[in-house]
Amino acid sequence: MPVAASHARTVAVRAHAPSGGSVVATAPVAPPAAYVDMPYPKRKSPLDDRPTLVKAMTAVTEQVLALPPVFSAAAADARSTMFERGAQIGSPWPDAVDEYKRQKDMTQWEAALRDVTKIPTEDLPTYFTLPFHAYEAGNIGWAPAFEADSAAVTVHAPIFDADAKEMKPEGDEQMRMSFLDAAKQLAKAMGSNVHDGSGAVDAVDVGCSTGRSAAMLRASLGRGAFVRGVDLSAHFLAVACSNQESGKGLFQKANVATGSSRIEFVHAAGESMPFDDESQDVVCVSLTFHELPGGVSLQIIEEAYRVLRPGGFIQIMEMDPSSAFFQRIASIPPAWAAFRATEPWLASYACLDVTEAIKVAGFADVRDATCTPRHRAWVGKK
Ligand SMILES: C[S@@+](CC[C@H](N)C(=O)[O-])C[C@H]1O[C@@H](n2cnc3c(N)ncnc32)[C@H](O)[C@@H]1O
Repeated sequence: MPVAASHARTVAVRAHAPSGGSVVATAPVAPPAAYVDMPYPKRKSPLDDRPTLVKAMTAVTEQVLALPPVFSAAAADARSTMFERGAQIGSPWPDAVDEYKRQKDMTQWEAALRDVTKIPTEDLPTYFTLPFHAYEAGNIGWAPAFEADSAAVTVHAPIFDADAKEMKPEGDEQMRMSFLDAAKQLAKAMGSNVHDGSGAVDAVDVGCSTGRSAAMLRASLGRGAFVRGVDLSAHFLAVACSNQESGKGLFQKANVATGSSRIEFVHAAGESMPFDDESQDVVCVSLTFHELPGGVSLQIIEEAYRVLRPGGFIQIMEMDPSSAFFQRIASIPPAWAAFRATEPWLASYACLDVTEAIKVAGFADVRDATCTPRHRAWVGKK
C-alpha cells in the first residue's frame, strides 16, 4: 500500500500534490494554503517577541523575495556563497558531484533509484513535495542528493564559533558527536544500558538523508547495533547506499569504530514506519523536524513510541529557537526572510514544544541538553 494511503491519519490534505519532480517556480514564503496541520504542543516562538517594525519589515521582505526574478537572483547568490565556503574548507561542491558521476553513470543511478523506491512520487505527502533549500523539487532529485553532504559540511562549518564566522571542516562531525554524546549521557542518567555498546541494539534513524546521521549513530551505539535509515527521498537513499558501498566519509568512521556492519536504508515516512510494535531500542531524529509541519513532527514522535520496546529511547537533535543564533536571525528581516524562503516549515517548527510533544506521546521521562551553541538534544524514555 502506498504510504500516503496508509496515512490518511497523517497527511491531512493532498490537494497540492504534484505528479512529477518539479513543483513550483519559486520558494514559498508560507506553507501552501491548502495544507491543514494537525494540532501539536506549542511553545512561545521567538518570532512572537520581535518588535512590530521588525515583523512588518520581515513580511515585506518575504513578499519581495517571493517574486520569481528576485528569488532566482537571491538563490543564485546564496549558492555561489556556499560554493565559495565549501571550497574554502576543502569541500568543493562541484568536485563531490563529479565524483558521484564518476562512480556511476546516470543510467546506473536511475537503476539504483528504482531499487530503493517504495513510494511513487505522486503518493508522497504534500508537505514534503515543496521547494526546499532553493531546489525547485525540494529533496527529490539528483542535484540535492549529490550536493547534500557538501551542504551539510559547509553549513555546519561555523556552528561552534559564537560569531558564526570561523569555518571548520570538522564542524558537522563535531556537531553529531556532541549530540550523540549528549544523548548517551542523558540516557545513562535515566538508567540506560542501551547506549553502552555492550549488547544487541535495534535502532532507526528517521530522516537519514544520504546517511551521515545513520553512520554516526551506528558508530555511537557500538558493535552490536543494527541501524535502519528511513527517509522519504529515494534519491537521498540511493546516494546513502552508494556512500555505504564506497565506505567514504562518516561511513568509514562507523566501520572503524564498530567493525563493519551494513545499515539498511528504507524508503518510508517517519510517521508510518514499516516496523513492528516494540521492535526497536532507539529511534533517532536529527535535523528533520524543522523540515516538517509541527503536527507531523508530533506524529513521528508517536510513531517512535509505537515501534520502541519498553525502556527504549527517542533521541532528537534540532535547532534551538531559544539560542542566541536563532534569535539573531529572527531579528534581521532579510536574514529571516531568506532562511524561511528555503525552509517552508521553519515558522511551524519554531513554535513546536519538543519536550511537551515527547511527553504527550507517552514517554515516561524526558530530558534535554545543549549540544552546540545553536542545537539542542532531547531524549525520551519509553
Ligand atoms: C535536513 S535533512 C537531515 C538529515 C540527517 N538526519 C542529518 O542529520 O544530517 C532532513 C531529512 O528528512 C527527510 N524527511 C523529511 N520528511 C520526512 C518524513 N516525514 N519521513 C522521513 N524522512 C523525512 C528529508 O528527505 C531529509 O533527508
